[in-house]
Amino acid sequence: MTADVMERRFGADVDALMPAGAGSEQIRAVFNGFPAAVVALCSVDEDGAHGLVATSVSVGVSYDPPMVLFSVRKESTTWPALRRSPHLGLSVLGEDQSDLCRRLAGAGDRFDGVRTHAADGGALFIGDAMSWLDCTIESEVEAGDHTVVILRVHAVGHAQDTAPLVFHRSTFPVLRGL
Ligand SMILES: Cc1cc2nc3c(=O)[nH]c(=O)nc-3n(C[C@H](O)[C@H](O)[C@H](O)COP(=O)(O)O)c2cc1C
Repeated sequence: MTADVMERRFGADVDALMPAGAGSEQIRAVFNGFPAAVVALCSVDEDGAHGLVATSVSVGVSYDPPMVLFSVRKESTTWPALRRSPHLGLSVLGEDQSDLCRRLAGAGDRFDGVRTHAADGGALFIGDAMSWLDCTIESEVEAGDHTVVILRVHAVGHAQDTAPLVFHRSTFPVLRGL
């Protein structure tokens, strides 16, 4: 891209582009400023329920067959248990579920008082969420300190009248116009 094309697309701010150093203030500002849906990834087995929340989920990675992806920290202590499950339950959280989001990412009993629904194959879904996707792992790709996990979607459900929980700059803003 030539400098004049960049200038037209980005305006004066193009002068402020900074090197994208790992963990830098600049990269954190850009990543934290990216609005994202909040998804719980859960399973259940003989040891009980396992789950975490992720904002790195991207849908529509493939439409035929339907696939989504998400990125998990290599140090995650929960991912090894989720990974063992034949099926994973993805629940796109609703706008009233910010407390639940914190609990599912936290240190205590993540499922205490949480309404769940277990499906065949070990997928575990969260009640009152906006959408549900029953998935299996298609492939995994190493990506720096994370692993990108591509998931094949086998069954879905959607609550028409529920708005999504959105994460932006470490808060949960309410979407206007919904
Ligand atoms: C809003 C939010 C988004 C998160 N997104 C991700 C994510 O995309 N990938 C990830 O590995 N962890 C993400 N986490 C952290 C996990 O939910 C969880 O806290 C973390 O994996 C530590 O727990 P664990 O060791 O049990 O895995 C997120 C946490 C919060 C609160």
